Amino acid sequence: MLANLNVKDMKLYAEADSIVAELSALGFGPGTTLDFNEVCKIDQLHYHGAASVQLAIDALAIKKNASVLEIGAGWGGPSRFIAGKTEAKVTALELQSDFNSVGESITERCGLNSFVTHRQDDFLQAEFENFKFNHVVSWLALYHIPKREFFTKKIYNLVSLDGTIFIEDLIQGKAYNDADLASLNKELFANSLVDESSYLNGLIAAGFEIVSTENMASDWFAFTSERLNIFLTNKEKFTILHGSDAFQAKKHFYSKIVGFFATSAISGIRLVAKKNKV
Ligand SMILES: C[S@@+](CC[C@H](N)C(=O)[O-])C[C@H]1O[C@@H](n2cnc3c(N)ncnc32)[C@H](O)[C@@H]1O
Repeated sequence: MLANLNVKDMKLYAEADSIVAELSALGFGPGTTLDFNEVCKIDQLHYHGAASVQLAIDALAIKKNASVLEIGAGWGGPSRFIAGKTEAKVTALELQSDFNSVGESITERCGLNSFVTHRQDDFLQAEFENFKFNHVVSWLALYHIPKREFFTKKIYNLVSLDGTIFIEDLIQGKAYNDADLASLNKELFANSLVDESSYLNGLIAAGFEIVSTENMASDWFAFTSERLNIFLTNKEKFTILHGSDAFQAKKHFYSKIVGFFATSAISGIRLVAKKNKV
């Protein structure tokens, strides 16, 4: 981890319980049964929500009983969606224990606990013995993790031969070096933000073949701008449910992200890669 950075510095991660209040407001009180098709509208902590997870399911052709690892699962939203749609066996690995336990309880309420295993751990430390996954997926999590070269090789070693990966991640933008990097790293809990070619070359150096790659900068700038506008429009409703401190914290985070995309301090990548040699 970079000096003095803490995952809770990123204001998006302030309240793991907020989703429980959100569900209650939608009429699903604590302990009630849930449908992942409904929950997926509010449990995805990345851009374009379940639509992006469906892209991963299609791109990797994830099938029933396939083994899938999600690195940095948050509330486990993508993991539940993959399991619910495909009946694959998904391991949802998450660093923050509060997000992990709230996610686990939602999975149970969705009746998906025989498909999704929640695991609280730091990916850098996590032991998998000799297990190999058919697929590894990750949304907006890898840039949080230090030691990129080490964790990229670790992902490679965890994927079975002919296995595939789908990643969406933040990367450095064209004007990254003009930004206040101490502030950017703290706001985003950015521990391994690299430029696009370093990102791809790192995967190739670990042994992956890149199948497809897309720069997401303009798409995610548009998405995050609209997200901020919708959030501001719904201020009253949000504040009644979560309080004004939570409103200010989320407004701060959503505005910062828009600013970082607007100034090209950050950019984004979506990619699919394959392991075709041992
Ligand atoms: C932006 S959230 C995305 C969550 C989920 N992928 C989704 O899209 O809904 C990124 C997550 O990565 C987790 N994370 C950060 N560093 C990690 C690490 N070293 N090991 C496991 N998870 C990590 C964070 O705690 C956070 O919940």
